[in-house]
Amino acid sequence: MEIVLSKHMGFCQGVERAVKMTLDSGATCTLGPLIHNPQMVEKLKEQGIEPLESLDQAEAGRKVVFRSHGEAPQRYEEAKNRALEIVDATCPYVKQAQQAACDLAREGYRVVIIGEARHPEVLSIKAWAGPGAFVAETTEDVAALPDGGRYGIVAQTTSAEETFQKLRGLIAKKAAIIKEVRTICKATTDRQDAAVELAKQVDVMVVVGGKNSANSNHLRDIVSGCCPKTFFIETVKELLPEMFKGVARAGVTAGASTPGWLIEEVVEKMQNMETGESTMNEVKTGEIITGTVVSVGKDEVFLDIKHKSEAVIPRQEMALVPPEDLSELVKVGDEISALVLNPDQDGSAVLSKMRADSLQAWDKLAKAKEDDRDIDVIVTSAVKGGVTVDAMGVRGFIPASHLDVQRIENLAEFVGKKITAKIIELETEGDKKRVVLSRREVLKAQKAVEEKALYAKVAVGEKYEGTVVRLANFGAFIDIGGVDGLLHVSDMAWHRVKHPSDVLETGDKVQVLVKSVDAENKKISLNMRDLLPDPWLAAIVNIKEGQILEGKVSKILPFGAFVLLPDTNLEGLVHISEIAEERVERPDLVLKQDQLVKVKVLGVEKKTKKISLSIAQAQHDSEKNELKEFMGQNAEFTTSIGSKFDLSKLLDK
Ligand code: F3S
Repeated sequence: MEIVLSKHMGFCQGVERAVKMTLDSGATCTLGPLIHNPQMVEKLKEQGIEPLESLDQAEAGRKVVFRSHGEAPQRYEEAKNRALEIVDATCPYVKQAQQAACDLAREGYRVVIIGEARHPEVLSIKAWAGPGAFVAETTEDVAALPDGGRYGIVAQTTSAEETFQKLRGLIAKKAAIIKEVRTICKATTDRQDAAVELAKQVDVMVVVGGKNSANSNHLRDIVSGCCPKTFFIETVKELLPEMFKGVARAGVTAGASTPGWLIEEVVEKMQNMETGESTMNEVKTGEIITGTVVSVGKDEVFLDIKHKSEAVIPRQEMALVPPEDLSELVKVGDEISALVLNPDQDGSAVLSKMRADSLQAWDKLAKAKEDDRDIDVIVTSAVKGGVTVDAMGVRGFIPASHLDVQRIENLAEFVGKKITAKIIELETEGDKKRVVLSRREVLKAQKAVEEKALYAKVAVGEKYEGTVVRLANFGAFIDIGGVDGLLHVSDMAWHRVKHPSDVLETGDKVQVLVKSVDAENKKISLNMRDLLPDPWLAAIVNIKEGQILEGKVSKILPFGAFVLLPDTNLEGLVHISEIAEERVERPDLVLKQDQLVKVKVLGVEKKTKKISLSIAQAQHDSEKNELKEFMGQNAEFTTSIGSKFDLSKLLDK
């Protein structure tokens, strides 16, 4: 059987870019499965990259990949608010489609997206188009559109050209005005055209792709239109010999989200089917082969390795410490890898799963170290100087000093526990194979991430209850919930504080305001004073404009004098022009330090905490009052004098 591969198939640029960005960025999660291929998603999981259903499953500080399908603008905002780091792997073509939808909506068109209503890419484009955007997946959907509208059309990038043209034609009949932006991706049309070309020349077509992948499904639909014998498979396991009975030429194509290694597996199996050869002939001692579990006994497991007889894995070769019931490790139908110990012992191959796991484990450990990725391990025993762990099936060691950030007194308390650790030393070659790990490094890194997230959360102007953790000459360090801020001595109280210990003690609970945050340099400055009642404002309540008070000269300056008001700590300024009615050359020529003077309150500026006073006006007022009083007591004299002088002028002066 001749096997012909399609000219264009497998990962498109956008998917390849997304996978590379995910692996290179060190991200540990993706929002939704990175691509619509379950096998690839599983591989990523093995590397510690998990798909999340929503952003609330990611802790602050985590790197999250926005996949090639793109995301709604709200998701970017949400990720920012949750202090997540975005690795934006949106395919540039999808971005173009989002932008086109957004522009059409701005130009006043009702945006119609031709595509699958529930597909994540379509949902993202719709979100960028804003409210009123419409998705047309079928002719019925188009029929629901009102006649005579201004319609702006974009397509899902992976739409089949034929479907697009059909729906577009129907929309055009309804529209008063129509504008179309071409957004079908070339990678999609290339794959579809090449597959159609090939399908016309072969007896059988095999389409490889995720059953949940839109473009693989489209490809299957298109191909089956040209080649009636088309099989749509997700993995090599679905290939059966009867599919190729009597077939001279078979074609293979794959969707844009199908990884190359999956295609290779399919082609390899098709080649073997064709020749009927078994890989068993080539099996040699020391090789790792794959087989399917056909039975699980008490002392052995049998595997179908496509040979005349089944291969056997003895109990002691299943695991370092095999469980009583081997079905806890494997079950019938599982595909597992095992190392060939003897290719032909009494007609059967003898294999070891444990050794294959171990060999593969060293590779996985090397990869984890190379990627600087933390791994989960199980503590198996406490030994001198540390603990031993099961690290991916390999015996590893964690020194006591690397078990925690604090000193651990009783190492045995960790035995049996699953912990996360970082590989700090790895030797994979020769007799000196060893792996040393550190949990402390993981905890330190986690703390740094948590701290970063906390700093990102702390907002200037917010009030916190904190605990005094340390006093210094210049201030106090306050823990405000995982991070320490500095309360400078000048921000502790309204009065002058000589030393922080005059006001605070370690362990005190205090209310503080955040003055500033420097997340980069991990600095937060706090203020306690502004939360305390301001004594100036309390005292000023009794001071009213126009009031005449007796105060004491507290300071004499070239432009005036400060007067301390009675029974308060408040000082007001008597400007040089308000010292006397006549011109004063220098305040110190007419006033003395501590001299008692009568002052009139001219004004109180609460914002700037300024009180302006006048000695001249106080004096004038008191003279006026004296005169009034005098006139009240001597009415006769006042009448006779009043005929000669205008007294009202004197009083009003
Ligand atoms: Fe992008 Fe086209 Fe692939 S839109 S994700 S390059 S199919």
